[in-house]
Amino acid sequence: MLPIPWSVLPMVPVGLVLPGFAVAEDASSRALIALDTLQSWYNSTSGLWNTCGWWNGANCMTAIADLAAIEPSALNTATYVFGNTLRMAPAYNPQPGPENQTQSRYAGAANASEWLDSSYDDDAWWALAWIAAYDVTNDDTYLGLAQGIFSSLKKAWGTRCGGGGLQWSTTSAYVNAITNELFLSVAAHLANRASSESDRDTYIGWAQKEWDWFAAQGFIGANYTINDGLLENCQNNGQTVWSYNQGVILGGLVELNKAAPNDTYLESANKIAQAAINTLSDANMVIHDVCEPNCAPDATQFKGIFIRNLQMLQQVSPNDIYKKVIEACANSIWANDRNNQNQLGVNWAGPFASADASTHSSALDALVAAIAI
Ligand SMILES: *[C@@H]1O[C@H](CO)[C@@H](O)[C@H](O)[C@H]1NC(C)=O
Ligand SMILES: *[C@@H]1O[C@H](CO)[C@@H](O)[C@H](O)[C@H]1NC(C)=O
Ligand SMILES: *[C@@H]1O[C@H](CO)[C@@H](O)[C@H](O)[C@H]1NC(C)=O
Ligand SMILES: *[C@@H]1O[C@H](CO)[C@@H](O)[C@H](O)[C@H]1NC(C)=O
Ligand SMILES: *[C@@H]1O[C@H](CO)[C@@H](O)[C@H](O)[C@H]1NC(C)=O
Repeated sequence: MLPIPWSVLPMVPVGLVLPGFAVAEDASSRALIALDTLQSWYNSTSGLWNTCGWWNGANCMTAIADLAAIEPSALNTATYVFGNTLRMAPAYNPQPGPENQTQSRYAGAANASEWLDSSYDDDAWWALAWIAAYDVTNDDTYLGLAQGIFSSLKKAWGTRCGGGGLQWSTTSAYVNAITNELFLSVAAHLANRASSESDRDTYIGWAQKEWDWFAAQGFIGANYTINDGLLENCQNNGQTVWSYNQGVILGGLVELNKAAPNDTYLESANKIAQAAINTLSDANMVIHDVCEPNCAPDATQFKGIFIRNLQMLQQVSPNDIYKKVIEACANSIWANDRNNQNQLGVNWAGPFASADASTHSSALDALVAAIAI
């Protein structure tokens, strides 16, 4: 029999939903298949993803933007999502912020206040999502949204523990790690995208102030892992070492080091990343959160955030362990934590139990990180 030239074989269109387990895909194809699945939850009316919440939507959008940044086949979907979410999602902000501006729908001008929901961490997730959208599109509208959100966040800079930091929300005095890591990361990202030297310096100043404050408080525990937050007396509260708290700080320090190089930033990031891997990975180097398999809806998205940020560190400070973790997570998700509709669950080691847009987008982060490895 004559060999069939490859060019006459039927091509599988990239981005088409394939029956589960049908083909052995490379990292890009896996991520594109997972993108299609994620979009089965996208609700064009709400501009959000059914089955997950408001802040999770920001992380779904970030995962899509990160994929589009390295995989042109995802660009159409990504640009559609950015535009539609910008128009539609503000009307579905579940808890309009203190400025109460989400009552009216987008009316032709992007308005940062529509993205505030009174929880400062939620606001910052959207700021990072719009920065990711800006990076893909170069559309200043998106950068302006992130800048506007940051303007609002910096007004929340507090005076309690060590005379600084942000509390969790307008109504909760809890000083938690995630809110402050996100504040650092947004400031540092904005520094690298500022249009004037003085804006750049201002953002660098905020990022450094947050990092100096953060490092001086008790967030980082004995083993260089980061606990959830501080007690009222400002000591480490010993609460869960969540994966995302070991992650957001990495991306923040990578961006800060890019804006204002200082060897201590990546030294700290590497210590935190290695401590996290020691603490959170299993024997196969797959990352877990302690809540699995019955995580509350928020926590189902944490691990992808860790891997997304570990990948940022790997890009500037490569380490074979980071590479192995990213690959192990992506491969295990695909092999062990996927159903026949290509939905991805919360326990990356498997077995697959259930999925929603939160578990799935989190796994997508790992698939995206594995592309550039
Ligand atoms: C889209 O979201 C809106 C608001 O949550 C909801 O009322 C509607 O049923 C959703 N549409 C679909 C097709 O899921
Ligand atoms: C904003 O919302 C709060 C809480 O719902 C309400 O008390 C306040 O009157 C509102 N302010 C404006 C200007 O609508
Ligand atoms: C944002 O929207 C609110 C009303 O929803 C409006 O009062 C405010 O002026 C808007 N800001 C900008 C910059 O358009
Ligand atoms: C530090 O790690 C050791 C060894 O794994 C563990 O026994 C200990 O509980 C950890 N301490 C903290 C504060 O996490
Ligand atoms: C580098 O950062 C550390 C920690 O924030 C700081 O103590 C030190 O002064 C910085 N070094 C320089 C040269 O700015």
